[in-house]
Amino acid sequence: MIKACIFDLDGVIVDTAKYHFQAWRRLANELGFDFTEADNEQLKGVSRMESLDIILQWGGLTLPETEKTELADRKNEWYKALISHMQPDEILPGVTAFLADLRSRDIRVALGSASKNAGAVLGSIGLVDQFEVVIDGRDTTRSKPDPQVFQLAAQALGFSPSECIVFEDAESGIAAALAGGFYAAGVGQPEVLGAAHCVIPGFANITFNDIFVSIFNRQPEQV
Ligand code: BG6
Ligand code: MG
Repeated sequence: MIKACIFDLDGVIVDTAKYHFQAWRRLANELGFDFTEADNEQLKGVSRMESLDIILQWGGLTLPETEKTELADRKNEWYKALISHMQPDEILPGVTAFLADLRSRDIRVALGSASKNAGAVLGSIGLVDQFEVVIDGRDTTRSKPDPQVFQLAAQALGFSPSECIVFEDAESGIAAALAGGFYAAGVGQPEVLGAAHCVIPGFANITFNDIFVSIFNRQPEQV
């Protein structure tokens, strides 16, 4: 029944949100305003240019497209410098064991990320080989909550959405999974991700069995 798991990257596999925050904040500061870590929640799962639009709105700025592109590029250079120092020990707790659990059950694994830097992050943390399919911001034309990124991942694996569980830390990502007809597992707080079929705080001590039971209310063997 469940043949594959599709993972978001930022906030699910690794905490890159702190680096996005650092780089965007530096940009905002250069533009003469500031924003908080709580504000940063609104940027999770949101594409680079849409994130910039939200930040400029916070600063009360309206800028021409050419300048916006230049600002987004500047932020991205800072972000790339930060992720280039990432190490495998930044993989979030339990993720490696969870991926091994999936492998032992022949559940296939894909990545579905809004980030155009997904490949670089996977390279820095040494997880490139763990994902059979990687769909990222370079492959998509529509952002979450549109389900395109997960649909492309499922298509590449050859499964229908109802055969896949999507793991997401962003509200927009859960909305995308549900809109596409996927099972959705939230990674984070139930208050934010309550629309998902199940919510876990993270992968520490979590097995595929736990997720399956939580979504379907029965053991995988009973299917
Ligand atoms: C998402 C992050 O995964 O990728 C967002 O949650 C980010 O915060 C988006 O804006 C795009 O990332 P990038 O690396 O292409 O700028
Ligand atoms: Mg995320």
